[in-house]
This record gives sequence, structure tokens and C-alpha cells, in this order.
Amino acid sequence: MENLELLAEPDLVGRENELETLQHYLDLAVQGKGTTVFVSGEAGSGKTRLVNEFLSASKQKRDINQLSGWCLSNSVIPYFPFMEAFNVYSSGYSKKGSSSGMRQGGLQQGLEKEGLVVDEELGLRAWLMGPGKTERKRELEELSPQAWKDSTFAAVTKALFSMSAKKPTILFIDDLQWADTASLTLLQYISRFIASEKVLILSTFRSEDLNPDSEGHPHPLADTLRLMSRENLYKEIKLQSLNRFSVSLLAEDMVGGHIQADLAEKLAVESQGNPLFIVESLKMLLEEGGLIQENDRWRLSTGKIGIPTKIKDILVRRLGVLKPAQRKMLEIASVIGYKFNPELLASVAAQDSLETLETLNSIEQSTSLVIGEGDMYRFDHGKYREALYEEISQPLRRAYHGRIAERIKSSRSAAGKLPVGDLAFHYAEAGNKEKAVKYSLDAGQEALKIYSGTEAIKHFRYVLDATTDIEKYADEMMIALEGLGDGLYAKGRCGEATEVFERLSKNTTSNSVKARALGKAIDASFFWGEYSRTLDYADRIVEYPELTPLERARVRFNRAKARAWGGEFVETSSAHYLKEMEESLRVFEGEYSLSDIHSTLLEMTTAYVSNDQLENAIAAAIRARALSEFSKNAGETAMVASWMSLTYSITKLEDEGLKALEDAIRVNEKISDPVSRAFVETTTYWMSGQLIEAKAASKLFSGLPLETMRSFGAGAKFKFFMSSLISGALRDFKQSLKAAIAQSLKGAACADETDSYFYKTFNYGNLVREYSLLGDIEHAEEYYKKLKKIFDDTSISGIFHSRAAYASVRATYFSSRKKWKEANQFHEEAIAIYDSGQIAGDRTMPIAGERQAYCWDLLQQGRFSDAKIQFEKAKRAMEDLDRRFEHSNVIGHIIGPARVKLGIEFNMRLDLINVAKNPAVLIQIEELVPSEFSIVSMQPSYNVQKNAAELEKKSLKPFTDDAITFTLKATKTGDFNLNPQLIYVNELGETKICKVDPISITVLPPDAVGSSQKGDA
Ligand SMILES: Nc1ncnc2c1ncn2[C@@H]1O[C@H](COP(=O)(O)OP(=O)(O)O)[C@@H](O)[C@H]1O
Ligand SMILES: [Mg+2]
Repeated sequence: MENLELLAEPDLVGRENELETLQHYLDLAVQGKGTTVFVSGEAGSGKTRLVNEFLSASKQKRDINQLSGWCLSNSVIPYFPFMEAFNVYSSGYSKKGSSSGMRQGGLQQGLEKEGLVVDEELGLRAWLMGPGKTERKRELEELSPQAWKDSTFAAVTKALFSMSAKKPTILFIDDLQWADTASLTLLQYISRFIASEKVLILSTFRSEDLNPDSEGHPHPLADTLRLMSRENLYKEIKLQSLNRFSVSLLAEDMVGGHIQADLAEKLAVESQGNPLFIVESLKMLLEEGGLIQENDRWRLSTGKIGIPTKIKDILVRRLGVLKPAQRKMLEIASVIGYKFNPELLASVAAQDSLETLETLNSIEQSTSLVIGEGDMYRFDHGKYREALYEEISQPLRRAYHGRIAERIKSSRSAAGKLPVGDLAFHYAEAGNKEKAVKYSLDAGQEALKIYSGTEAIKHFRYVLDATTDIEKYADEMMIALEGLGDGLYAKGRCGEATEVFERLSKNTTSNSVKARALGKAIDASFFWGEYSRTLDYADRIVEYPELTPLERARVRFNRAKARAWGGEFVETSSAHYLKEMEESLRVFEGEYSLSDIHSTLLEMTTAYVSNDQLENAIAAAIRARALSEFSKNAGETAMVASWMSLTYSITKLEDEGLKALEDAIRVNEKISDPVSRAFVETTTYWMSGQLIEAKAASKLFSGLPLETMRSFGAGAKFKFFMSSLISGALRDFKQSLKAAIAQSLKGAACADETDSYFYKTFNYGNLVREYSLLGDIEHAEEYYKKLKKIFDDTSISGIFHSRAAYASVRATYFSSRKKWKEANQFHEEAIAIYDSGQIAGDRTMPIAGERQAYCWDLLQQGRFSDAKIQFEKAKRAMEDLDRRFEHSNVIGHIIGPARVKLGIEFNMRLDLINVAKNPAVLIQIEELVPSEFSIVSMQPSYNVQKNAAELEKKSLKPFTDDAITFTLKATKTGDFNLNPQLIYVNELGETKICKVDPISITVLPPDAVGSSQKGDA
């Protein structure tokens, strides 16, 4: 071919501004002000080229690290682009089981040179490859999905920052439109932290690909972009099409001479300034002899060949020059993917791998349709892969997919992890339903493990669609249904999750699955806001005899909490539900089922409040927090921290509440999935708005000199009273209201990411109240309408908290409109609901707060003596609460297995919680264990003598937990009680005794069956 040298890549044209912008962000990154920059544009607009050009130029100018990762269109391997970037991906196909996806040399050595110690890199590999892999398996098995994900995020960030600490670092990810959601959220996560790092993140995406899916759900990247823009986390460079001048320049550069005006015009019009179009059409024309040089100018050879109007037609025509063997090679490659392993290709083509490499090499030489990179190959442009793939006949395509799946599967060494997502995809495309179903289930579970709800939903949906009405797949269908429900719930799509769990509960033949499904339906429908369904599920959930003790405890707990939420105790009392929960908790503790313990404790906080056990409520929240830290689960920790603030707000410990929220916000930042994050975050902002407002209101209220005043009537007098006495305080109050509104608006935005009416109503409610108090009638009305609609359309008013909050919000809303009749009526209603038994009446803050607001409104109506009644009740309740947590007060709780075997070691945990504003001094624990047990070890290692542990006068700070863990061994069989007691000294120097609730342990002979230490959570 005579024009061979003309096929070389043209110089970059018309992108001066873009390069300058990129340079600007790199300069900032070098100064330690990192940014994430997206380069977007249609396929072929020159995104990859622009970034690559920039990368090589900056590499020459500066000493920087560069990491590059890709996204593959067919691949559903979580974190794939990051594995590529950090060079840890072990490709799906490898004969030796070696990591053949690695680009040998360069990067690997680079990483080591940068001082990224191999160990750290290996650690990174383990985290990215997911649970159940490598030597770290045992340690990691214990982590829950969310914990896994958080640690992965932390590991990647750490690796990146330890590189950038030494040298500015650019992380480039190409074709982000194909990224898995785990990678997208990781990208968002890192973007949040680079503002003060020497890191520049560059990423490209095809703007035309971000369409919603067939059900109308947004493209994952569109979701991520929206959330990232809310936090102002990225800059975008939108690539425009080349102008006419640049088109000519490009063309002249390619043909190596001037081009005739006609040709330039035609190219500009047909290509619409798309560089890929120009480059490919010129290559096509040159290959086909469609260009001739005349009078020093190139023009189209007359009449012979035109330029197709669609880029695909150009590509197809260029593919026409391939020899049959070459073409076949590339067709198979196109079925594998944009980037492919030549060994896999050879194996699928049933060819010698040397021969395959020779073929690829000659294609690369003569057409540059493919490009070799390390020991992998890729298509010159994704559009080629698409064009080739579309040209293959349907049956052949399927056969190739099937063959590829088989080869991938058989090539994995036993130790390697199967790329189940890839297998699921290829088997599905091959029409091999049985295998596609099998691997889709695996891939779905894997996605759930790392909280990639979107992928989980996709895989499980596939299984459900593929197995509809096919008898032999009944089991698979049930697994897929549950997985689908979990995936939906994780993303805050509570309504759909409820439907799915309900369907599962009806279709399953296993009572164990049925109980689990109903338990999940209870939660999903509750947060959805359909409380009548929650009750219905609670009625249907039954303690079937074949359930394990753990499952049975879950049934009891789920039933109790569902009913307790309603707050109308007709046949039973709230004490009954508290007892049910306490007993379930003991079972969960006996089985060491951490996540059960955790959710039960959170639930029990409100049950304790109902029973006026405020100290126990706080202790439960603090224990839940301690356990969530122990299980290193950021999702749970954040949830606890924000719910904890609820307990503190009920007990008028506003400062503690606000402190808990600061923790929650810090932990929230580590949560990965943007929508799950919204699910947790909405609680944080709701509580935050509420606490700021409550604190300010109490302050204003305490300044009211009502005790010493006499009636002053309504109207003008009242106004005078207000302005003369508390104008400064009122101004402060309004300032605080504005701060509260800012938080509540964030909470509402988060709730709107989900379909949870529960969260929406609490945040909208805050806004109605706060805008009303501020006198912003318009906004108050906007949110009032939204709130009212939810209460009219759903059965959320069945939930007692929601009903009470709604009445309270309405009272404030009507009072801001001076509609006193309604306002008074709703104040009375709110007080009555709070007083009905769920909350411990006058002793807690919600009811005192309501009286406070009511008093305010009565004053405005000139009803001075009625106001005074409310004033005094509220004041007394608040003073009670202020006193109640004054003196150091330690509560102890012990956890241990219910059954153990003789001579086998087991663990115990004793929590000491101080539920007071003053510290306690810990002296000693007596009666630590019965004499039939020996203490193997203890943490911290206190001195134990005569069965009493000396606590070295350790100080236990206000509202904190101190845990002692110890390992025991039984020396005798039988039933034993543990009832230790703690001696401590309060802040007044008085000695106090705290009796820990006893537990019993059954010691079985060593050969007994059925004892266990671990739960099956
Ligand atoms: N500004 C430009 N000047 C010269 N050639 C370009 C320019 N932009 C893109 N190209 C060429 O056009 C083709 C497609 O560009 P590419 O970067 O792969 O597109 P995208 O990544 O946007 O799909 C490549 O051959 C590239 O070299
Ligand atoms: Mg590209």
C-alpha cells in the first residue's frame, strides 16, 4: 500500500483551549489543590486523544505519576477500572493463572519506584478483588458488605495519597459511561478528598450514552454526576465538534499536503466536525484510492467513491480491506470486548497462539484497527468493536459467546476467582440459560456483598425474567427474588423492595425463607410509609417449629417492633414489647449475631423511652455505637450515630445529640453508594435541623419571665411585651432557625433520592415548622402541601411518631397563620398522642417541647392563665430531665454464648456505660465468673484475684462505653449463671454498686452437637 505512512495519527488540532484548561487544573493539583475533571463528548469527538496528548506532554514537562484505567462495555467486574489503574487486575483468562491483565514492566515498576511498597499494593489487590480471596480471607470474612466497601475505599485512597504525597499524581479513567457503580461511587468518594491533595483525576465519558434504562431509571453515571454536582465535586470539559478550519488542518496533516476546497467542504459537512469520522473517512479513501493529487492539492477522484454519511458505514467499509482470516480474528475479538487477551482469542478460534499474535500484528501494521498494549490488545476505537459485532450473524455470535464463556471458565486455576459477571454475560448472550442463571446469581450476590445495588438488581432481574414459569428453576427464582429485594432496599427503593419481599413470602415453600422475607418486608414497608402493610406482615410472620432459635428470635423481634411502632396498645402494653425485644436480644447475643444485636439495640432505645427507662435507652444507643465500631461497619456506625441523636433529643441532651451528629457526618463521608448514603444521611440532617431548632427554642423559652408576670391581654400589648423583653433573643432564635432550615433542606434532598415517605415526612415537617416560625409563609406552604399529600395518600399516620410529629407541625403551621382554633386543636392532639403511652408522658422532651410551643401560641391569643399552665408543665419536665442525668451512673451489660463445650475457649464481653454528665471512677468488678470457669485472657489485662478484677481507678467519661473482653474455658458441664457487679465512685465521692443483668451459660460435653459460638447472620 503506497500511502502507508499517511495512515499515521494526525497531529492534534483545535484543542488549544481544552489543553490550557487541563494544564490549569494540573497546576492547581501540583500546588495541592486537586480536582476531578470530566471530558465529555460524543463517540469519536476526541476525548481519549485529548487526554492522552495532555498526559504525554505533561510527563515530559514534569515529574509526575500517571495511573490509567479503562472501563469495558461488557464487563461487569466491580472496580475493574481501578484494578487497571493500579495494575492489580488479573484478567478473566489466563492459562497460568498469572495476572496476564497486567501491563508488564512500566507501571508495576513505577509503583515500586514510587515507594508504594509491594505489601501495600498486594493489600490493595485483596481489597479490590473483593471478599473471599487471598491470604487475608479469614480476617476479612468477618466484615459485612458495607464494611468491605468502606475498607476498599480507604485502601484505594490511601494508596493514591501515599503516591501523591511524594509526587503529583494523575489518575485517568477512560469511558466512564461503562463503569460499574462500585467504581463510580469510589470515584465520587475520592473526589471528595482530593481538594487538598496533589491529585488530578481525569475521566472521559460519552455524553450520548447516559440514557435512562428501559424502566426509566437513570443511567448510573447520570446519577453520580447529579450527586457530585450537588457537592460541587467536578469540572467538565465538553468537547465541541471541530470547526471548519480545524477540519481542513486535520485533513491536510493526514494526507500530507493541501486539500481542495470542495473536499474540505464535503468533509466538514459530512463529519459535522467529528474527528473520528474525518480520520476514518480519509483512511478509507486512501486505502480505496479515492483521493488523487492534482496541482499540488488533494481532491476526491471523480465519480468513483463518495463519503458515507454514517460513521458506521465508513468503518464497515474500512473493515472490508481485511483478509478473511484477519476478519474472523477481529470478529471473535469483538465478541470478547473492546480490550482482549490474545491467548483467549486464540483459544476460542482454536488456533495456535503464535499464529494469532502474528495475525493481530499484521492487522496492526497494515490498518491500525487494533493496537497492542502490553500483552493485551484493544480496538483502535470502541466504534470498531461495535461495527464488527453488529456485522456478525446472530447464530455465530451466540456460538462465539458460548465458546468464550467455556474457555474463560476452564482456564481459571482453582485458586483464582471466577469473573462471574463476565460468565453470566457471555452465557446469557449465548442463550445458555442454565449457566447464565447460575452465574448471574453468583454475580448478583457478589454485587450485594459490596453494596452495588444497581448491578445486583440487574443480575437478579435477568434471572427472574429468564426463569419465569419454569418449574425446575423454582429455587433459583426464590434466591433471585430475595436478592432483588435486598438490592432495591439498599438503594432506598423501599416500595419496590416491599413488593418483592411480599412476592417472595407468598411463593416460597420454605418457612425459614418466608419468615425472613416477611421480616424484610416489615422494614421496607415501614420506611416506605405503608404502615398498614407493615402490620399485615407482622400478623403473617409466625414462629414455625422448624426455625432455628435465632430465626425464631428474629420473628419475635420483628413482630414486636412492627406493632410497637403503632403506639396504640390495646391488648398489650409497651412493656410487653420491650420484654419481647429484650428476650430476642439475649438470643442474638447468645449466638453472637452482631448485626441482629445492633438493629435490636437501636430499636430498643425507643422501647425503653416508652417505659420511662431513659437511662437504659441511652445505654442501648451507646452500646450499639460501641458494637458498630467494633464491627468496623461505617454504614451501621453512621446510622447509630444519627439515631443516637434522637435518643438524646428525647432526653433533652441536646449538646450530646449535636456531638453524635458530628460523628455521623464524619462517618457518612466514608459511605460509598450514593443512594444508600442518602438513606443514612437524611436521618442525620433531619435530626440536626431539629436539634438546632429545639435548642434555640428552649433558650428563648427559658428567657420568658412568665412566672413573675401578670396577664397583659392580646394584640398590641403582646407585641409590645415581645419586642421590649426579648427582641435580642428573638433575633438569635431566627438566626438559629435559618441554620436549622439549611440542615433540613439537605435532609429533604437526601430523602428525595429515595422513595421513603417516612424520611420525607420528617424532613418536610421540619421545614414546615421552621419556615412557619420564621414567618416565611410561602415556603411553609410549599412543604405543607407535600407533607399533607403524603399523609392523605399513605397509611403513614399509623406510625405513632409520624402521627405525633404531623399534629405538632400542623399546630405551628396554623399558628403562623393566626388560625388559633386549628393550632390549639393540633397542639392538644400532639400532646395526647405523645401521652398515649408510647413516650413516657410529661417526662420527655417532645411533650415538653410541644407544651412550650403551645404556651407561646396561647400567649399570642391573650390566654395568659392557660399559657401559664403549659409553661409550668414544660418547665418542670425540662428541669427534671436536666437533673436526671446529673450524677455519674454506670450501667453494665454482659454478652456471652448461650451454649459452650467443655474445655473449648469462648469469648465474653462486658460493657460498662456511663449515662450521665459526670465521669465515674471504676474500682472493681466482683463475681466476675463462676468458679467452674477459668479465665484464659482478658483485654485490657486487669489484675484478677479471688474472682474480682481491679479496674485501676479508671475514669469512665460521660456518655461513653468501656468494654472488657475476656476469653474463658469451662471446666465442668452444667448450667451456670454469671452475675458480676461493678463498684464505682461517682463525682461526689460516693461509692456505688452496679448490678449487671445476669446471663446463663450451658456447658455441654465436648462431643455434644448443636452448640455454636457464631450466629448465621
Ligand atoms: N483534535 C484532534 N486532532 C486530531 N485528531 C484527533 C483529534 N481528536 C481526535 N482525533 C482522532 O480522532 C480519532 C477518535 O478520537 P478518540 O479520542 O478516540 O475519540 P473518543 O475518545 O472521543 O471516542 C482518533 O484517531 C484520534 O486520534
Ligand atoms: Mg475514547
